[in-house]
Amino acid sequence: MCGITARVGHDEAIDELLSGLRNLEYRGYDSAGVATVTPDGLTVIKRSGEIDELCTAVEKTPVHGSSGIGHTRWSTHGPPTDANAHPHTDCLGQVAVVHNGIIDNYSDLRDELSTHEFTSDTDTEVVPHLIEEQLSAGYEPEEAFRRTIDRISGSYAIAAVFDGSDAVYGTRSGSPLVLGVDDDTYYLASDVPAFLEYTDDVVYLQDGDVVVMDPDGYEISDTDGEAVERAVETVDWDPSDAGKGGYAHYMLKEIYEQPTALRQSIRGRSNSMTGRAEFEELPEETFDGVESVHLVAMGTSYHAALYAQALLSDRGVTAQAFLSGEYGSNPPPTDERTLVIAVTQSGETADTLSAIRSVQGTGARTLAVTNVVGSTATRECDDTVYIRAGPEIGVAATKSFSSQVATLILLSERLSQDLSGGTPRATGEVLDALSVLPDDVQRVLDASTADTVAAEYHDSDSYFFIGRGVGHPVSMEGSLKFKEITYDHAEGFSAAELKHGPLALVTENTPVFAVFTGRDDTKTLHNVKEIRARDAPVIAVASEGTDRIREYADHVLEIPETHPDVAGVLANVQLQLVSYLAADELARPIDKPRNLAKSVTVE
Ligand code: AGP
Repeated sequence: MCGITARVGHDEAIDELLSGLRNLEYRGYDSAGVATVTPDGLTVIKRSGEIDELCTAVEKTPVHGSSGIGHTRWSTHGPPTDANAHPHTDCLGQVAVVHNGIIDNYSDLRDELSTHEFTSDTDTEVVPHLIEEQLSAGYEPEEAFRRTIDRISGSYAIAAVFDGSDAVYGTRSGSPLVLGVDDDTYYLASDVPAFLEYTDDVVYLQDGDVVVMDPDGYEISDTDGEAVERAVETVDWDPSDAGKGGYAHYMLKEIYEQPTALRQSIRGRSNSMTGRAEFEELPEETFDGVESVHLVAMGTSYHAALYAQALLSDRGVTAQAFLSGEYGSNPPPTDERTLVIAVTQSGETADTLSAIRSVQGTGARTLAVTNVVGSTATRECDDTVYIRAGPEIGVAATKSFSSQVATLILLSERLSQDLSGGTPRATGEVLDALSVLPDDVQRVLDASTADTVAAEYHDSDSYFFIGRGVGHPVSMEGSLKFKEITYDHAEGFSAAELKHGPLALVTENTPVFAVFTGRDDTKTLHNVKEIRARDAPVIAVASEGTDRIREYADHVLEIPETHPDVAGVLANVQLQLVSYLAADELARPIDKPRNLAKSVTVE
């Protein structure tokens, strides 16, 4: 869960390395460093703290050289200190290495390298010392790099530079690494935003690929050194996508990008003539023979998966959402009648990748529902459907949830049309509601009174979020967003659970957000009355004109009237705004919440 960047060219590398790291900070931000190749040897500068600390250090000690590597860290082995920050070097300063992932056999290797002087607690530092062994055995840098890779096991994306060579060496296994191609400059990075302002021509490296790039070009080969061809693809992302676009935070920008993201997610996928949901990526026969659906995901994506479970069950399709981390280590029986849908924004979440791999070979069909073209999940699954939300930089997922749910609503319609026993929604009523969803979200963004709620309740003891049907996963998502960025205790659960325990926690200091979607609202209103009886403040999220709800709520966050299957998306936008504004009231580092990172690439 770190960010790697590297660059070779004909002019100074440092500015592009630092801006690359800035655009990767959502992957980890507790320490950072760079290394460049100069005629006087390798220059290595690294600091604990955010990128600003590193930039200040670089200002004080100018860094030269047209080839270099950089790293922004999310600690797994050893606390965030200058010594544990990357790059790591060998005893003689011949090679510098940055790494994202975990080297499982590092302690055995470290024992083997007992004569070497280790200066950090990290797993990564074994790599430069192993390379040193190969160099002292007389191998050239590339061979030394390859022989070292053969020795390590675990998940990794690695980039290295050597003293006396302006080449950068890179490889990946289990962690993402992409190559950026420009006229006479080449980049390596954990993700495209690192170099999007310089080039949108990208090569998606695959596990086992080894890339050697220097100012004159690049070569990709497999672990045995055999050259491999990898296509250069152009990403249709605009460089400003990697910027804040004038918003105070990426999270706020991405909340306001939802109408656009939803239009992209829905475009060309709902045929109002036939009332059918259509996916160009999924040929007609894709779901032939499928009888049940498993959805695997983590975090916000798990809440989108739970939303889809409710939709599919409602359409008579046997479906269950699972936490990937549990599913991967103990997968339920699957066979050719099972469809396993992996819901993952980044396409790189290690838990979800292992859940996919746990059913490979059982005959189950696998489908990735993801936001990132070329991500590992797209290669591990039989089929892929993109949610088309555009790059999401904010660690707290927002627009990706809405686009995931919109895509899963369409997929649920398609599955209920294709699967035997499925009962698709008649008359396209859901597709109609979906087609106006982007405008409805815009109305919520334009008219929301979330600021009043945040101002009044941002320093309460705890926060509860309740809902029924699709309102249940929305309440879980609302509480996750609240926890992630305000650092306050929040819980989301089905309103049906309230009397079976959680009601004991409800007091006048625990605001309760109640989500009304237009289905089972009467029951949810009963729960609101039980909460009011304990004097707890109630903030209802409900469509306009629901006066009977307004009577029992201290505040109503209004959403446009729409189909219950779609209403959850609108309600969630209100909860996103409340979380953002409450965190802003508390002056939290909203884009870089403590202890978190955008995509969790280790289990
Ligand atoms: C959500 O705000 C978090 N960033 C996190 O829970 C995230 O949803 C989870 O790690 C899953 O990530 P994915 O969708 O990229 O697989």
